Amino acid sequence: MFLDYYQIKELDEEFGSSFYLLDINKIRNNYKKIDNAFRSRYENFIIGYSYKTNYLPYLCKEMIKLGAYAEVVSRLEYDLAIKIGVDPEKIIFNGPLKTYEDIETAKDQGSILNIDSLYEIDYVTKYCLKNQNKHVKVGLRVNFDISNNGQKVLQEGYDISRFGICVSNGNFQHAVQELKKLENIHIVGLHGHFSTRDRKTETYRNITKGLCSLAKQYIGDSVEYIDIGGGIYGDMPAAFNLKTPSFDDYAEAVCSVMNTEFREKERKPYLILEPGVSMVANAFTFITKVIEAKKVQDKYFVLIDGSVHNIKPTMHKRNLPMQIVKQCHDLKQMEIYNIVGYTCMEKDHLAYDVQGELPTRDDYIIFKNVGAYTIVFNPPFIKERPGIVAFDCNEYFVVRKKESLKEFFNEDLYIF
Ligand SMILES: Cc1ncc(COP(=O)(O)O)c(C=O)c1O
Repeated sequence: MFLDYYQIKELDEEFGSSFYLLDINKIRNNYKKIDNAFRSRYENFIIGYSYKTNYLPYLCKEMIKLGAYAEVVSRLEYDLAIKIGVDPEKIIFNGPLKTYEDIETAKDQGSILNIDSLYEIDYVTKYCLKNQNKHVKVGLRVNFDISNNGQKVLQEGYDISRFGICVSNGNFQHAVQELKKLENIHIVGLHGHFSTRDRKTETYRNITKGLCSLAKQYIGDSVEYIDIGGGIYGDMPAAFNLKTPSFDDYAEAVCSVMNTEFREKERKPYLILEPGVSMVANAFTFITKVIEAKKVQDKYFVLIDGSVHNIKPTMHKRNLPMQIVKQCHDLKQMEIYNIVGYTCMEKDHLAYDVQGELPTRDDYIIFKNVGAYTIVFNPPFIKERPGIVAFDCNEYFVVRKKESLKEFFNEDLYIF
């Protein structure tokens, strides 16, 4: 979608001088590309959209239309999925923290439940004993070593992931044993999400192999799904200059293992993928107005009506792909500049050492690829959160209004 200065100015006048823009067609394309890549190789395929990545209700409703399940990791996300009309049987309840009531709700409604830690077994046990006439299905999130020839593959260089039930120390085997003591329980699935640094296809092959072999050994014929989590790369902006695996590359690595491991099974288990970043990152841009280009000593700082929190909540120092939309090109001033935000933190830098024509007052900057972990991870700090505008069928419309004092200081929460 190309926007010129006057189109952005019109949007600014309607929606405010900084806002997110969601291109619904990009979401549809991402969904179709992922779905085609996997389903053409393994028919029983389910996409469980990772809510935490961006749980904008309008977006999540689009996911329902596309056929996605909802992958949630808290009761808040679970309740949102229900509120917007997700069929409870199409909710995958993951995450390290669940109460007995969460488990009871999920199981009463027939949702998919993946146990992450041993304490949850007590709750599942209590539920099974309370509902002895019911077949209770559960899955287990497993934790096994996925290092590659001794090389660490986890994000941030961690040696050991804290999630899931550990196979190497016997906790997983213990969990299976404990659960199998219950007459009405069925362990039906294994879940293995690992956040890796390089998101390599080889890692996905290993994860799938690990899950399949544990499923065959410990679950046997009752296996209904293998859930490999999320974490795959999506389409990358050319500006990143990165050669990353395509959806087809991932699908080939994963589905070839599934097809081999379950070739003799008449009813093959479902393969679940839980994409987050790859589904939404490239569907959002953040558009913001330039307030001033200010010179301090010999350095230019371009102040905009936004903050690093809007585009890079982890405050990493890489520059995102961006586009400067200038009002007037008459006075070309080529500079090296930083783009900075409205907060009072020195580190509120949206971009460092950008080279090119200096943006000046009332120009706009479009930051691209900002759909993942921004909208959900945008602290209420100093200023109200910007609105979110969607673009579909040639129309722009609000899907989240710009916050005002009333919502920021919600009178149902704060005591004045
Ligand atoms: C259990 C689980 N599933 C899916 C995802 C989505 O991962 P990504 O956004 O990298 O695709 C995450 C992210 O941390 C996760 O923890």
